[in-house]
Amino acid sequence: MTITLYVSCDSTARSLGADAVANAIRSEALLRNIEIRLIRNSSRGLFWLEPLVEVATEAGRVGYGPVTVEDVPALFDAGFQQGGEHRLALGLVEELPYLKRQERLTFARMGITDPLSLDDYLQHEGYAGLEKALALSGRQIVETVTESGLRGRGGAAFPTGIKWNTVLESESDQKYVVCNADEGDSGTFSDRMVMEGDPFMLIEGMTIAGLAVGATEGYIYVRSEYPQAFATLEEAIRIASRYGYLGSNILGSDKAFNLQVRKAAGSYVCGEETAMLESLEGKRGMVRAKPPLPAVHGLFGQPTVINNVISLAAVPLILARGAAYYRDFGMGRSRGTLPLQLTGNIRYGGLVEKAFGVTLRELIDDFGGGTESGRPVRAVQVGGPLGAYLSAGQLDVEVDYEALAAIGGVLGHGGIVVFDDTVDMAEQARFAMEFCALESCGKCTPCRIGSPRGVEVIDKIIAGQQVESQITLLRDLCATMQDGSLCAMGGMTPYPVLSALDHFPEDFAAAPVRKAG
Ligand SMILES: Cc1cc2nc3c(=O)[nH]c(=O)nc-3n(C[C@H](O)[C@H](O)[C@H](O)COP(=O)(O)O)c2cc1C
Ligand code: SF4
Repeated sequence: MTITLYVSCDSTARSLGADAVANAIRSEALLRNIEIRLIRNSSRGLFWLEPLVEVATEAGRVGYGPVTVEDVPALFDAGFQQGGEHRLALGLVEELPYLKRQERLTFARMGITDPLSLDDYLQHEGYAGLEKALALSGRQIVETVTESGLRGRGGAAFPTGIKWNTVLESESDQKYVVCNADEGDSGTFSDRMVMEGDPFMLIEGMTIAGLAVGATEGYIYVRSEYPQAFATLEEAIRIASRYGYLGSNILGSDKAFNLQVRKAAGSYVCGEETAMLESLEGKRGMVRAKPPLPAVHGLFGQPTVINNVISLAAVPLILARGAAYYRDFGMGRSRGTLPLQLTGNIRYGGLVEKAFGVTLRELIDDFGGGTESGRPVRAVQVGGPLGAYLSAGQLDVEVDYEALAAIGGVLGHGGIVVFDDTVDMAEQARFAMEFCALESCGKCTPCRIGSPRGVEVIDKIIAGQQVESQITLLRDLCATMQDGSLCAMGGMTPYPVLSALDHFPEDFAAAPVRKAG
């Protein structure tokens, strides 16, 4: 009997040795004359267990991890191919509490399917949403997405249905759908996981967006540091086109949608939607003033839907199961689920998809197992490099756009970066200003000039020079950046700076006190 084994092809799993483990399993099976079928599946996102090897048994998939090349002969000796006992045995993977306590809607296929197998995708509810969409008018699709309560997962949390409606109502012979896959936020990787692990889901979501608004061309702007995501998407687009899921007559209909992948320019600000459009048009990634909105005057001056990978990836399920199914998850105005990414100083880093309403404490303690160092959590940055630092006392806040805003935070793209009590928050504040200085597109003065001045002021504070007056100056500078910047790059850099000042004032005290602390 052929034994079916799974080793992830996700780039995190590969960076942890998954390719070598897969090769070792193949060689060992050959040596022992055991017939195996080794599938390179997507990753479950339980990264501390990678390389995770799963074995198909009658009871379900049994997991072993993290596996090294050296472990492989002993795993065969233990009969792991039948789910045998071994010190790395994890039992049924689906029963692991980390997975079982999640609400995986967007990430339902993650770790289960072979990313480039269209059959696998179809067998796991793939393209059910597109089939439904093809029977609806554009307006009905937009209404469904609006009713689902989906809000943009790229950072600004703008209602997706309302954005689509603006594009639908904009008259033009040519409209576009652009997927923002620049994923520059610190501590985030959910877009990458989708592109590498479930590319047809993104393609399906973009195709539905095209049908909804009347766009026939789409672009995916992929972060330049994601070569595997780029290659996987290109191959998936070739396959989808070959089988009629893209092209001039989608599934035999009179609807057309074509898709292309573009390599991003390697700059954080190119993730800002108007800078991304400039970059896609072959220009330098400078932010455009709004209005006009990209929904009216976007790529090449035409009405354009711009959405994050996760927003678009949520769409097939919304169409397949209905708006109410999705909307029933979540709290308040935050409907559905969010793939949260646990990183930084955390024991069990990985992907946790939960309905809105879970608390940060549950995520960091129950899922993440606290810090990797074993020391107390001191600060948590949520929402990327422009997100506020939260203190350990604020972790009971619910993951909800409004709840986080109420305490001065942002949810952004769902990246959660944990720091223990050795962190120096003055250094972190300096880092925020330095990051802005490096990444600023330079178009407006508060950001271009303000951020390097911010670095200088924080340097003086760190050196213990006129600390009080420099802190006043820093707050003043932050207010100018917040009020006067053209985009959120300069407008939000004060979030990490001011939150560090507000929650961790002891780190900005005069030098002797800092040393004593
Ligand atoms: C400096 C900066 C960087 C950004 N980077 C990204 C990014 O990498 N990915 C993304 O989806 N949105 C990013 N955004 C937000 C986008 O401008 C835009 O709001 C988003 O792509 C819209 O999609 P959504 O409605 O699906 O969230 C960034 C915004 C700013 C100001
Ligand atoms: S805030 Fe910064 S990144 Fe944004 S437009 Fe102004 S200079 Fe450019």
